[in-house]
Amino acid sequence: MGVSFEQARTARPTPEIAPAPTAGSKGMSLKFEIQPATNPASEKERAARLVDPGFGRIFTDHMAVVRYNQAKGWHGARVESRANFPLDPAAAVLHYAQEIFEGLKAYKRDDGGVNLFRPDANARRFWNSAERMAMAPLPEPVFIEAVEQLVRIDRAWMPGGEGSLYLRPFMIASEVFLGVKPSAEYIFAVIASPVGSYFKGGPAPVSIWVSENYTRAAIGGTGAVKCGGNYAASLRAQAEAIDHGCDQVVFLDAVERRYIEELGGMNVFFVFDDGSLLTPPLGTILPGITRDSIIALAKDSGTRVREEAYTIDQWRADAASGKLKEAFACGTAAVISPIGKVCSASGDFLISGGAAGPVAMGLRKKLVDIQYGRAADPHNWIRKVL
Ligand SMILES: Cc1ncc(COP(=O)(O)O)c(C=O)c1O
Repeated sequence: MGVSFEQARTARPTPEIAPAPTAGSKGMSLKFEIQPATNPASEKERAARLVDPGFGRIFTDHMAVVRYNQAKGWHGARVESRANFPLDPAAAVLHYAQEIFEGLKAYKRDDGGVNLFRPDANARRFWNSAERMAMAPLPEPVFIEAVEQLVRIDRAWMPGGEGSLYLRPFMIASEVFLGVKPSAEYIFAVIASPVGSYFKGGPAPVSIWVSENYTRAAIGGTGAVKCGGNYAASLRAQAEAIDHGCDQVVFLDAVERRYIEELGGMNVFFVFDDGSLLTPPLGTILPGITRDSIIALAKDSGTRVREEAYTIDQWRADAASGKLKEAFACGTAAVISPIGKVCSASGDFLISGGAAGPVAMGLRKKLVDIQYGRAADPHNWIRKVL
């Protein structure tokens, strides 16, 4: 028999679950205990898996783990063999989806060293996600240390060339209790997955499907944070995109159903005939770190960037009149993907004749060159791990 809502509500008042952030807790650091894997992949096995790693299918030998409970706060920081978590069937994450995650990459430089790109920004977004989901926020230095330690111990898994090591920090609610309330216990972990170049032979323009049946986020909801539930809710719309022969879905706002928000896992930019850029404003969309970096790089070169609402009807009209020159999606995984075609129930239209445009490609090169350490880093975005 389950627990009634009233029982759950009154069972254990837990106002201190997600302690109010203070400068002290936000800046707190922990020492990681390093326990190298006893049975890592052999050199031969690793080399074979790195030949064509794809995305998110193969994993390194280790993981970083930190635990939280109310008595100890964040504790037990370790880097250890990547292994299953023993999880009680009543663990809160399995029922009420208190889960958040991040995604960032480590890049191999030509001198053999390794760069992280803006891990502090991911740490801050993770903190914000935790707060929104009533989870215990993780101090920024612990987030960064966990990522760095994992990259160091698994450095042999760093792909060369245009490949990278995709890092996936995440946090789950692990308290064993069936009431609807914030969990009193959490597990934070980081795993790593070597990934190949997202596009073989250069970025291919993607086709996108405008979702008119499903929305992604409402004002006051969780659209601006990276919780697993957002992605679960997007899958039906993404499936609809695939059914219509498109690569990705683009969502409209949940109120008027006409303002462009973002793709299922990427932000979006528009390029106009006067050279200016437009991207939807923050609020219900994920504040992408690639989005923020593109805005900064474009402004550096004197390009006007507007963060303004833009409707699907205007997009169609601007594509037809030639006012719109390019559109592209952006995010950590693919960096920049040109958008070649937009499809919807009311008809399809092409952008830049369906080809990749020079502004998207120029910005992509600028960003990738900074990430791999091939260009100057005027904003101090790079953190050298090795
Ligand atoms: C919904 C959504 N929007 C945008 C992005 C792009 O964010 P970032 O540039 O930080 O990878 C992502 C990827 O994390 C995402 O999942």
